[in-house]
Amino acid sequence: MATAEASGSRAPGRDFADAFLPEDNALRVARELAAEAEVTPISPSTGATLALLAAATSARAVVEVGTGTGVSALWLLRGMRPDGALTTIDTDAENQRIARRLFAEAGHAPSRTRLITGLALDVLPRLADGAYDLLFLDGDPADHAACVAAAPRLLRPGGVLALNGALAGGRAADPANQDRDVVVVRELVRSFRDDDGWQPALLPVGDGLLCAVVV
Ligand SMILES: C[S@@+](CC[C@H](N)C(=O)[O-])C[C@H]1O[C@@H](n2cnc3c(N)ncnc32)[C@H](O)[C@@H]1O
Repeated sequence: MATAEASGSRAPGRDFADAFLPEDNALRVARELAAEAEVTPISPSTGATLALLAAATSARAVVEVGTGTGVSALWLLRGMRPDGALTTIDTDAENQRIARRLFAEAGHAPSRTRLITGLALDVLPRLADGAYDLLFLDGDPADHAACVAAAPRLLRPGGVLALNGALAGGRAADPANQDRDVVVVRELVRSFRDDDGWQPALLPVGDGLLCAVVV
């Protein structure tokens, strides 16, 4: 069974959904610089969903893995409380420098963002217990399972985890696809269904966004 994304076409309504909330100049520049830096930013509809999750949780403290050039961070900041702070982790200091400049150009005070350069699995253990409203994972897919394992310690009760790439470019929907990376993401997503500690939903926005509330 070929999926829309696997066959190169776009699911009906995808462009319409991506255009639903316009992106501002900082987001447009962040996308252009992501293309130059060869990092893949989240889709606009994924961004709108992240802003919604941040607003719905009245997020004051958010952690992101995978800063890139700042597209997802700018969306998260849009939904967070004005006094909230985003901690964003990436191994690439140059891209974080770009993101920091764009946060300032978008009008966010320096106190609203904490950029940490390093490996997610080195940094997450240093972050405080139960201190975060929202954790967004968009780093190395090989680290996703370990980052998910760290999430219950980091999130407050009722906090939300969001994992990008949960449909593996649409390939996860094809049961015949047994590629190693696809199997890993499929099993990780399914593990949420079998865990009473999470209330999950798999949203078909962008590359797939697995959202789960700590219960
Ligand atoms: C898909 S891009 C993130 C895009 C970004 N979220 C956005 O929407 O603009 C993935 C990022 O994860 C970073 N990365 C890769 N491995 C990492 C790791 N082990 N720890 C932290 N960041 C990592 C890469 O440098 C890259 O910037």
